[in-house]
Amino acid sequence: MSLPNFTRTQVGIVGAGPAGLLLAHLLHREGIESVVIETQSRKHVEERVRAGVLEQGTVDLLNSSGVGERMRREGLVHHGIELRFDRRGHRIDLHGLTGGRAITVYGQHEVVRDLIQARMAYGGPLVFEVDSVRIDGFDGASPQIRFCSAGEECAIACDYIAGCDGFHGICRPSIPSGVLRFYEKTYPFGWLGILAAARPASDELIYANHERGFALLSMRTPQVSRLYLQCRPDEELTEWPDQRIWDELQTRFETVEGFRINQGTIFQKGVTAMRSFVAEPMQCGRLFLAGDAAHIVPPTGAKGLNLAAADVRILAHALTCRYRNGPVQLLDRYSEICLRRVWRAQHFSWWMTSMLHRFEGSDGFDYRRQLAELEQVTTSRAAATTLAENYTGIPFDLPGESL
Ligand code: FAD
Ligand code: PHB
Repeated sequence: MSLPNFTRTQVGIVGAGPAGLLLAHLLHREGIESVVIETQSRKHVEERVRAGVLEQGTVDLLNSSGVGERMRREGLVHHGIELRFDRRGHRIDLHGLTGGRAITVYGQHEVVRDLIQARMAYGGPLVFEVDSVRIDGFDGASPQIRFCSAGEECAIACDYIAGCDGFHGICRPSIPSGVLRFYEKTYPFGWLGILAAARPASDELIYANHERGFALLSMRTPQVSRLYLQCRPDEELTEWPDQRIWDELQTRFETVEGFRINQGTIFQKGVTAMRSFVAEPMQCGRLFLAGDAAHIVPPTGAKGLNLAAADVRILAHALTCRYRNGPVQLLDRYSEICLRRVWRAQHFSWWMTSMLHRFEGSDGFDYRRQLAELEQVTTSRAAATTLAENYTGIPFDLPGESL
């Protein structure tokens, strides 16, 4: 879709990842207009392979807002995960420990596809392949988004801007220096991830701590495995021919009972660096940051996409209150409300990462300590419950919200 050179809307949304698209959808359901702009093509965002685990709260939000139909049909509901260490598997009963909560394995790009489809169906403005995006005026009452679309200079005047443009976007860096504080931690490793046409060797996810490094078995469908290996952050993919990947995966997942993963054609490979990052506050005047634009977690806790969904749920609710002449204070509390959840997820993701990965320079003591912690998490009901509650997602407590 293209836009006239000048458009006026209520909320201008920068970025059509899960955060931007879900925000636009939630606002539409409340009768609030928005325009979404995105630098990439529709094909690119619909095919970008990323997260796969949806918390119970994210699933509930997609269902209650009317975009959960395909997820209910194709998503894989899991009631447990396995922690594997010392060549033995130990199941964490997520469902039993949380009073019936679960996770759903459904690719992030599928969520993105469903949201784009919904937006197209009601004709909501969504412009792909824009460039030279700038924002200004958000410190006053007249925020503007400027960009180029199909060679034309365009501007959107809006009441509020939602910066949903991910970690490398332009919204966060547009905030004057001195306003934000940054908290950051970079891990000395990355994940090499593959998608393979192979039946997953387990019905549930396996997080494996091995002397040679972490490995994760996940999936996308009953025929497609998603597998990860801890690697160097700057790992060259050329050093990882398919057979080396399979051999390393077999080693890291091995058990005393002779467990084997199923191999198949690898059709996607990539390396992801791991970092924790938080920008505080998540607001500057009429600009609100949401999702990866404001925070990053290492993927071990499967929280990034879920935090993005939580942010925009809170933002949509606060904007709805504002437009219905309800309490405007909620918008001013956006950052504070989000950050409580963000820091809980930061701690959980850091804890899972620390417990499961091999750290350069670590010794026998560190490994034995990790094993002792894993032993406790898998034998103490209290410790396992803490993991299960965080993994399935802490409940929402939003002032005055009805889902
Ligand atoms: P993004 O998805 O990054 O979307 C931002 C969008 O903004 C992009 O489409 C980008 O093209 C666009 N954009 C950028 N700049 C501009 C601009 N100037 N103007 C307009 N548009 C712009 N999370 C989980 O919850 N569970 C998991 O299992 C999980 N696994 C992961 C595995 C991997 C390998 C990786 C890399 C991430 C994983 N995550 C996981 C994290 C999750 O993918 C992210 O947290 C999520 O994508 C955040 O969504 P977002 O909409 O905030 O940002
Ligand atoms: C995935 O399926 O991509 C996935 C699952 C669990 C994680 C991270 C990624 O912790």
